[in-house]
Amino acid sequence: MAAPLSEQTIAIVKATAPALQQHGVAITTRMYDRLFQNEAVKAMFDQAAQDSGEQPRRLAGAILAYAQNVDKLQNLDAPVRRMVERHCDTGVKAEHYPLVAEALLPAIRDVLGEAATDEVLAAWGEAYWFLADILIGKEAEEYELRAA
Ligand code: HEM
Repeated sequence: MAAPLSEQTIAIVKATAPALQQHGVAITTRMYDRLFQNEAVKAMFDQAAQDSGEQPRRLAGAILAYAQNVDKLQNLDAPVRRMVERHCDTGVKAEHYPLVAEALLPAIRDVLGEAATDEVLAAWGEAYWFLADILIGKEAEEYELRAA
């Protein structure tokens, strides 16, 4: 289990929730533009859900819910379960998580501009990996269950 997030990181992530609410879809659309430069990763996604904007909306919703609940993650049990299911349906592995981090953090900078200070990006980087580690752990368990 990852070390708990610091008070400072929790405060910054919660403080940026309104900006994410306003710009969430712009951020995730930009994130996918960056991520899909990798053709193998692009092929994992249902392209119709991208083109309709459905998947960027789902991811923006997940990120916003996370920002709002970062200090009470038990509220996210059901959505996390759904992410684990979808990720295991589509073959998401631990090694993919750095690719999403490398697409998401610059996308936050691209869209929020100077509001995304180094401090904000560092807090989001830490928060991303905290959630990613939870998903990676649960997905490993789910793959084992499915293989059994
Ligand atoms: C902390 C990181 C991540 C979060 C918060 C996240 C969140 C989500 C959410 C909310 C969904 C939609 C679930 C639903 O159907 O309701 C989803 C689906 C999906 N995610 Fe992730 N995800 C993360 C990391 C990744 C990574 C590393 C990959 C691999 C490249 C990935 C690939 C996918 C795919 C392929 C789908 C299914 C999309 C489709 O139906 O086309 N995700 N994710």
